Amino acid sequence: MLEQFAPAKVNLTLHVTGQSANGYHLLDSLVMFASVGDHLTFEPADALSLTIDGPESGAIPTDGNSVLSAAHLIDPQKSAHIHLTKILPVASGIGGGTADAAAAYRGLSKLWGLPDAVPGSETFAHVAKLGADVPICLFSQTARMSGIGEKIEFMPDLPALDAVLVNPRVEVSTPAVFKAISSKNNASMRMIPSNFIDQTRFITWLRHQRNDMQDAAVSIAPMIENVLSALWDTKNCQLARMSGSGATCFGVFPSAETARYAALQISREHPDWWVKPCALGA
Ligand code: C5P
Repeated sequence: MLEQFAPAKVNLTLHVTGQSANGYHLLDSLVMFASVGDHLTFEPADALSLTIDGPESGAIPTDGNSVLSAAHLIDPQKSAHIHLTKILPVASGIGGGTADAAAAYRGLSKLWGLPDAVPGSETFAHVAKLGADVPICLFSQTARMSGIGEKIEFMPDLPALDAVLVNPRVEVSTPAVFKAISSKNNASMRMIPSNFIDQTRFITWLRHQRNDMQDAAVSIAPMIENVLSALWDTKNCQLARMSGSGATCFGVFPSAETARYAALQISREHPDWWVKPCALGA
C-alpha cells in the first residue's frame, strides 16, 4: 500500500500585489510546510473510490472531492482505492483540500507507474487546474510563490521554525475574503532574505512583512482577532499572523518546547479550538 503525507501549507507572508484580467489576484507569499497534515493511502482497485475518516472528516463530501479531481486530471480512465485521514480543518487557510489534491497527484502517479512530477512551469500550469495553491503543495518545500500561485522559487535553506497552528473552528470562504480586501495593489515582500539567514534575523524580517488578507478576513470572521490575541498572550510568542485567507493563524516560538507549552495553554483556555504545535520547513 502506498502512502502520502499532505502537510499543512502555512503562508508566513501573503502580499496581494494586484489583480489579473480573469479576476484572480496576484500574490507574493513565502510558504512553509508543517509537520502536521492529512494522510492518504492508495491501493489498486477495479474502480476509482475514496473513503474518508479522521477527526476533521465530518464536513467533507466524497463526491467532487479534490482528491478525485486529481485522479481525473492524471487519467479519467484509471482506477484506485484512496483513503484519506483528515487531520486539517476544512476551509481554514492552511491547504486542506489543496494539499490533499497535491498528495493524491503524487500518490496516484506512483501507483500508476508514471514518472514523478518535475518542478517547472509546465507542471505548475498543469496542476494549477486543480487550484491556485496546488503547484506549491505538489513539492511541499519552502518557497516563494508569486503570480496567482503558479510561479515558484524554492528556498531550501531558510531556517526551520517552531510554531503553533490555531483554528477557531470558523470556516472562511476564500473568494469572500478576496472580495473584502480594501487595497489590492500592495507592495511585494521586502527583499527576501538570503537562504542562509539565521533564525532570529529571519523572524525579525518576517515581522516586517504582512498578510494582506488578514484585515478582510477579520471583518468577516472577527474571531480571528481573538486567535491572534491568544497567540500573542502566550509566553515567548515571537510572531502571530493569519495564514492564507484564514481563519487559521500561526504563532512562531523559539523552541519546540515553548511551542508545545503555548499550545497547551491555548487548548486549556479554548477547548473547542483546533490547536497543533508543529515544525515549519523542517
Ligand atoms: O484556485 P482555488 O480554487 O484555490 O481558489 C479559490 C478562489 O480564490 C478562486 O475561485 C478565486 O476566487 C480566489 N483566488 C484569487 N486569486 C488567487 C487564488 C484564488 O482570487 N491567486
